[in-house]
Amino acid sequence: MQNHRGEWSSKLGFILAASGSAIGLGNIWRYPYIVGKNGGAAFVVIYLLIVVIIGLPYMLGELSLGRSSQKNPVGAIDAIKPGSAWKGVGYLGVLTGLGILSFYGVIAGWTVGYIFKMITGNPGDFAIFISNSVWVILLFAFFIFITAAIVHGGISGGIERWSKILMPVLFVLMIILIIYAVSLPGSGAGLRFYLMPDFSKIDGNVILAALGQAFFSLSLGMGLMITYGSYVPKSEDLFTSAGYIVFFDSLIAFMAGLIIFPALFANGQDPEAGAKLVFVVFPELFMRMPAGTLVGAIFFLLLSVAALTSTISLLEVPVAFLIDEKKVHRKRIVWIIAGIAFLLGLPSALSQGASPFFTNFGLIPQRLADPDFLSQMSFVFGDLSLAIGALLLSIFIGWIWGAKFAASEIEMGSSYFKKFLKLWIFMMRYIIPISIFIILLNLFGIFN
Ligand code: PFF
Repeated sequence: MQNHRGEWSSKLGFILAASGSAIGLGNIWRYPYIVGKNGGAAFVVIYLLIVVIIGLPYMLGELSLGRSSQKNPVGAIDAIKPGSAWKGVGYLGVLTGLGILSFYGVIAGWTVGYIFKMITGNPGDFAIFISNSVWVILLFAFFIFITAAIVHGGISGGIERWSKILMPVLFVLMIILIIYAVSLPGSGAGLRFYLMPDFSKIDGNVILAALGQAFFSLSLGMGLMITYGSYVPKSEDLFTSAGYIVFFDSLIAFMAGLIIFPALFANGQDPEAGAKLVFVVFPELFMRMPAGTLVGAIFFLLLSVAALTSTISLLEVPVAFLIDEKKVHRKRIVWIIAGIAFLLGLPSALSQGASPFFTNFGLIPQRLADPDFLSQMSFVFGDLSLAIGALLLSIFIGWIWGAKFAASEIEMGSSYFKKFLKLWIFMMRYIIPISIFIILLNLFGIFN
């Protein structure tokens, strides 16, 4: 540790922690159901294009801002443009982290519940389980507690070591599940749905969904990569690191689709089933497999771990902000923020049948999000705030700070980046903000 804020112990440590943030429920729970709702393979093509053209260069922008300033999102912006309103973008990021944590923790709690359900050999009915307020709230509280306990002890040590072992195990397990799912009779239709694009299914909403999913999955648009970038030593190569993070994240999501869709079609289920997809399709797959209860329990355990490395990062953003800017102690503030996230998450926890009010909340129109409180939070913080945050941050990095300064920060430690420098500057200043802007206009129905 070279300074009081802490640093990653190695390049690998950084790549694992950032990949740990990126890989989570977004890849295995959210990605397949968004693919299913948005027509399958054509969505996948658009998604991958957005990841490479917008996600990767944008990620480099956030990382460079973090490493250059060695600060949290609010502090980083303030260091470059002291006292300006741009700081608001940093605050938006801190708030978004809290907002995502609140509903994400609820789903992570369900995942933990499914470890035990698989062990008992009878997963039961998903809808009944998530409408049981006592269980859901207890599991949610448990998950937030574990998250806070780890962030309480600082970032590196434990979680880096855990990720190193558990991420590869998740990977191997997923390969086995792909082989099994693809070999089921009737799975071919699922592969066709997932891999053979029908571009007539693409419209503005599909593109917005792909953008929102890309930012959510890569942990972009709320300053997480600013925060994690601030712990990267100057000698490290941000460019190849970002490449690895984006590659691993997309690979895991893509693999999740290769399990879900073949299994789903083999069981004759509906790909548009929405948020419950993973919790219904996977257990059914396990119940048909030899040693399925064991495989199922391990799978949900690893999914919980993947979710944990993401909730840790979500909590770390507000915590880092308060440590840097308000000079508070990590150990105390962690529990306060975690408590706020828990309270904020209660309506989401109750919105899956337990409370009719939160289940039919419906403040945001049906066209954009399902009426339950959890889906509405997921839209506001998981799609909209990330897109707005990314738009403003890309303008800030490209124009206010200056893409040239950002580029020279990336060049430090990465000689290879020189070849892409001009292209990157062009993307950061024009392509990224303009595409996000158009997609947002479309969201508000400007083109209809
Ligand atoms: N990227 C995480 C996932 O796909 O599960 C979710 C997430 C974590 C989003 C951290 C944003 C963030 F800052």
